[in-house]
Formats: sequence, structure tokens, C-alpha cells
Amino acid sequence: MSQTPSPAHAARLTIASIARLYADGERIAMLTAYDYPTARILDEAGIPMLLVGDSVGQVMLGYDSTVRVTMPEMLHHTKAVVRGTSHALVVADMPFLSYGVTPEASLENAGILMREGGAGAVKLEGGERSSRTIESIVRAGIPVMSHIGLTPQSIHQLGGHRVQGKTRDAGRQLLADALAVQRAGAFAVVLELVPEQLAAEITKRLSIPTIGIGAGAGCAGQVQVITDLLGLNPDFTPRHARKYADLHSIIKTAADAYRDDVRAGTFPGPEQSTRMDGKTLDDILGRPGLDSAGGMAAGRGIPLDRDL
Ligand code: KIV
Repeated sequence: MSQTPSPAHAARLTIASIARLYADGERIAMLTAYDYPTARILDEAGIPMLLVGDSVGQVMLGYDSTVRVTMPEMLHHTKAVVRGTSHALVVADMPFLSYGVTPEASLENAGILMREGGAGAVKLEGGERSSRTIESIVRAGIPVMSHIGLTPQSIHQLGGHRVQGKTRDAGRQLLADALAVQRAGAFAVVLELVPEQLAAEITKRLSIPTIGIGAGAGCAGQVQVITDLLGLNPDFTPRHARKYADLHSIIKTAADAYRDDVRAGTFPGPEQSTRMDGKTLDDILGRPGLDSAGGMAAGRGIPLDRDL
């Protein structure tokens, strides 16, 4: 009897698989991932798309914005996530100014994330303004996910993390952006911080899936930053995120217990230690018997480093 293969044994998903999920009416769950062990867990959980987001800059590297993230950093994290997955489609974010300056540089950098990083697609920010860039990258055979609404790389221009598209003009621009990136060949579009009714209307008007973050349940899929979901930052959880675990407390409790055990001399215990044959130890140290008095103190045996 044939069985549906578990995600761990199934072939890696492609943008065609994502299109199929969308056509089948399945809501698409996407999460960010930045490192090998987390990527392994998320892949095992059957998350179909993992985003190596440039949010890595803030949540993993301690930068104050995504603007500081570099190509080598994105490449480093993309490689780790790809190594940790066998099923998920890995989408790598193109960092600030790695695209949109010249068509050649955009293509070169997208190519690096695919060829060297092993990503299955790239993501870049901007609607109409980025549509030419999207077009040329897609024409070269590289799948592109677009990102509109709140675009964190333009935070200095936008003046903060505010909901986008709330006025008549801004809303119309957002709809125009969504249509432009679809026309340019994007296989999906992230809608970040968009009023839910507008996001739902955009979703209805597109044939590619919308992936929302702070854009309501009417999107075709959802993406969240993994550290928000896991509760790694005790100081801040964005309003659009749900904390599914409190890893900060779990890790802190574990670290406290470890520190106390080391201080008390109860770690490592016998289970974490290895003993050797006493006779061999005597031979190594050049002493006639384990318990015989003397040893180095009596001037016998081979000298240790500190005695030289
Ligand atoms: O970098 C990132 O994590 C993102 C998500 C917010 C979509 O772009």
C-alpha cells in the first residue's frame, strides 16, 4: 500500500508546488529561518516555504534595521537554512541596495543567492518601482517573491513601522503595486502591514498568492518572523504576531540551572564523564602504582608541562 511521503522524505518544493497549493485552496504557512537547527525543525514540521529574511539583521545580528544587512551575511544564513532543509522552498531576501541600482548587479546578486546559497527563489521589496528589476531577474530563470506595503528597507523614507495603504491614494498605489509585480512575473507577493479589507481585495484581484504579515486572514498565506512566534525577545512582540512559545524563559531557566550546577560541582556528573583504566593512567604518568605515595612530588615519573 502506498503512503503519502512524510515531508522529510518528499522532494523539495518549487514555485510550481506553491502554485499548486494555492490552486488547491490550501492556506500557505511561511516562516522565517536563519540557522541550520531551526530550519531542520521547521522543515520537519512541514512548513512549505522558509524565508531567510533580512530581518536576520535585527533578530539575530542585533542591528537596528535591515538596512545594515550585507550580501555575505545573507549568503551565510541562506546556506545554513538550505543545509537544514530537504523539503521546504527556501526564499532568500535580497538585502538593501543589492538590487535596483543596476540591472546587472541585481541579477548578479540574485544569482549568488541561488547558485552559491542554494535558495529556490529570492525576495525583493517594492511594487511598481521594482517591477523592471523583477522582470529581468525572472527572465533569467530566477523565481521572485515580491514584498509591498510596509517595506522595511525603506524605513527611513516611510518614517516608521506604520500600516500602509490607509488613504485613497495610498490604497490605490498598493493595488497598482500588486498588479505591477504580478505582471512582472513574481510568483507571490508579501503584503506587510496592510488593512485586512484591502489585503483581501488585493488577494481576490491577483492570480498569484498573497502572503500576509499584519495583513489579516484574507491573504492566501501568512508569514511570520520565527523569533516572534517562539517568544525569544522578552521586550517586544509585534501586534501582528502570536507568541506560540516562550523560548526566552525556557532558555533562561536552562542557563540558570547550568550555571548553578557548574558552581556546585554537580555538572558534569558521572553520566557526562569518561573514566579510564587506572593502570594506563599510571603508565602515562610514569608512576608505578595508582595509589602509591610520591609520584611527581617524590621526584618520580615523567614531568608534566608545569614541572618543566
Ligand atoms: O525579512 C523578513 O523577515 C521579511 C518578512 C517580514 C516578510 O521580509
